[in-house]
Amino acid sequence: MTESALTTVVSDRIWCLERPVWFSGARLRARTTVLRLDDGSLLLHTPAPPSDALADALSKLGPVRWLVVPNCWHHLGAPAAAARFPEARLVAPASALRRNGALKVDLDLHDGQFAKLVPELDALPLAGVPFWDETVFYHRPTQTLLGADIVCSAGANDHFTWRLGARIYGCYGRVRVPPDARKKLSDKGAAARSLRAMLERPAERLVIGHGDIIEASWRDELAQAWRLEGVET
Ligand SMILES: [Fe+2]
Repeated sequence: MTESALTTVVSDRIWCLERPVWFSGARLRARTTVLRLDDGSLLLHTPAPPSDALADALSKLGPVRWLVVPNCWHHLGAPAAAARFPEARLVAPASALRRNGALKVDLDLHDGQFAKLVPELDALPLAGVPFWDETVFYHRPTQTLLGADIVCSAGANDHFTWRLGARIYGCYGRVRVPPDARKKLSDKGAAARSLRAMLERPAERLVIGHGDIIEASWRDELAQAWRLEGVET
């Protein structure tokens, strides 16, 4: 995995970058998603710390105008990205700012302003799981859902530490709610209502932060992962 390797997800509109991150002794893949908006500008979802090679690759796609921290955990690369792309506006939940004082947040993810400024995205907050405070986005032009930690999986492409961990946690070769959150689902009814709003979207794929992109089967896989935690959609 190199820092500049952008993979096309939807031609001319969506690209992904994966980088290794260590978490609780396992090396996971962490995904940054690059979205080209209708106005030609770029939105970085879960911004990676930008290497020169990545910044160069992005400059060929368009100007970076938005940096989106989708939950209170996916903030690690945001300060470096904000320094590299000073014209971009940083959108994050206040809960991320409490975890990372280096964030200079321009728009609170929950105040509704972002939805007005980028109307091609539907913001779908995942209620009932303040441990994450995650918002999933539906991008209407490409019929794509953008999630972060809402589910995860591991596969043959992963480092042996995460392949091993994922087998223990039941998310090898299938998606599950990440193990660190399973005991922290504080309002399963609220989570179920949020998930239904996602399941109703006519999405063709679900992009997640840790694991392969889920294509046609995303609806069944997402619902099944949450059903295993007692959340019936
Ligand atoms: Fe994550």
